[in-house]
Amino acid sequence: MSEVTLRPAHQAPSAPTLDMSTRLGSVTFPNPVFTASGCAAAGQELDQFFDISELGAIVTKSIMLAPRSGRATPRMAETPSGMLNSIGLQGPGIDAFLDKDLAWLASRGARTVVSIAGGSVEDYAKLTTKLRGRPGLAMIEVNISCPNVEDRGQVFACDPAAAASVISAVKRAAPTGVPVFAKLSPDVTDIASIARACVDAGADGLSVINTLLGMVIDTDTMRPALGGVTGGLSGPAIRPVAVRCVWQIRQALPDIPILGMGGIRTGLDALEFVLAGANAVSVGTTVFGDPRAPIRVLDELARALSDRGFERFEDAIGLAHKPPVLYVPEDPDPIGDEPAVVFHPSVAFEGDG
Ligand SMILES: Cc1cc2nc3c(=O)[nH]c(=O)nc-3n(C[C@H](O)[C@H](O)[C@H](O)COP(=O)(O)O)c2cc1C
Repeated sequence: MSEVTLRPAHQAPSAPTLDMSTRLGSVTFPNPVFTASGCAAAGQELDQFFDISELGAIVTKSIMLAPRSGRATPRMAETPSGMLNSIGLQGPGIDAFLDKDLAWLASRGARTVVSIAGGSVEDYAKLTTKLRGRPGLAMIEVNISCPNVEDRGQVFACDPAAAASVISAVKRAAPTGVPVFAKLSPDVTDIASIARACVDAGADGLSVINTLLGMVIDTDTMRPALGGVTGGLSGPAIRPVAVRCVWQIRQALPDIPILGMGGIRTGLDALEFVLAGANAVSVGTTVFGDPRAPIRVLDELARALSDRGFERFEDAIGLAHKPPVLYVPEDPDPIGDEPAVVFHPSVAFEGDG
């Protein structure tokens, strides 16, 4: 039997137009590339490099009730293909954030995902109540990778019951029509069970993943490199862990929107998350070295999808979970060589409804 050749993806027919919009719960965003919490403050700095309203959304640094000065310095350390941070949620507190940052984002026409963080369930509920009626608020991301001061510092995101209690309190207080996403920690044995607990408690979607807990020791001082001793590991080093988490959650919860992140540097990195099941992606650590990265990733992702024959971004979501489908086009030259076999997304989605 003669061999069939698989035509390389970049030679597949290009889509003339590409619909990049994506739906997360009740909100449709014009495109799926967001910033990541804590990596672009409230967007003012990035706006010097490109128009931030061109991104799908700006995800703000996690905000707490009161102003906070954060942890001891040094707060950052370089690691192979990534970095370690122990900023400790430094911030101005919710009231100043609403008056200054959220108001500015709304005036710029940006869609804003406000990230909130607290030390108790009540903190999260109070923060959410303050977000009611605020223009520009598109979504709430609940950073549950915080120690619960009422339970010996146990991190909410590492315990299904604690994670669920935060999410149900936020959902009760949240403005109608504003999706609530739980941001999950990868530092757990079974991330799908935490995801399920959050969804059962009312989460409209999941942000996946926060940083991994890490540590660096300075071999000159022979002491921990960070003032806070441990810190969060981010950047390309964590990407395979993040893709695995997105994949496992998409398998367990096929219909729940996922905002994927962890080490995205290029459009192809973003595409990996989308194929694993992400409905949108956040670009974080890369921004520190390349402030234009989110808009570049958006362009590269659009080009990569177009090159692969997609006409709608949403058709690529979770595609890696489906068996490969080969499409044999009609042979224009029946006497010549064997026909090329191409993968075609529209065929893969036939019958999906
Ligand atoms: C300096 C820094 C600060 C961060 N601050 C927050 C934060 O306030 N809230 C939060 O949910 N995640 C925070 N993160 C985690 C990122 O949003 C993201 O989940 C993680 O870094 C993985 O994405 P990346 O590898 O693209 O950075 C922070 C990350 C970094 C590097």
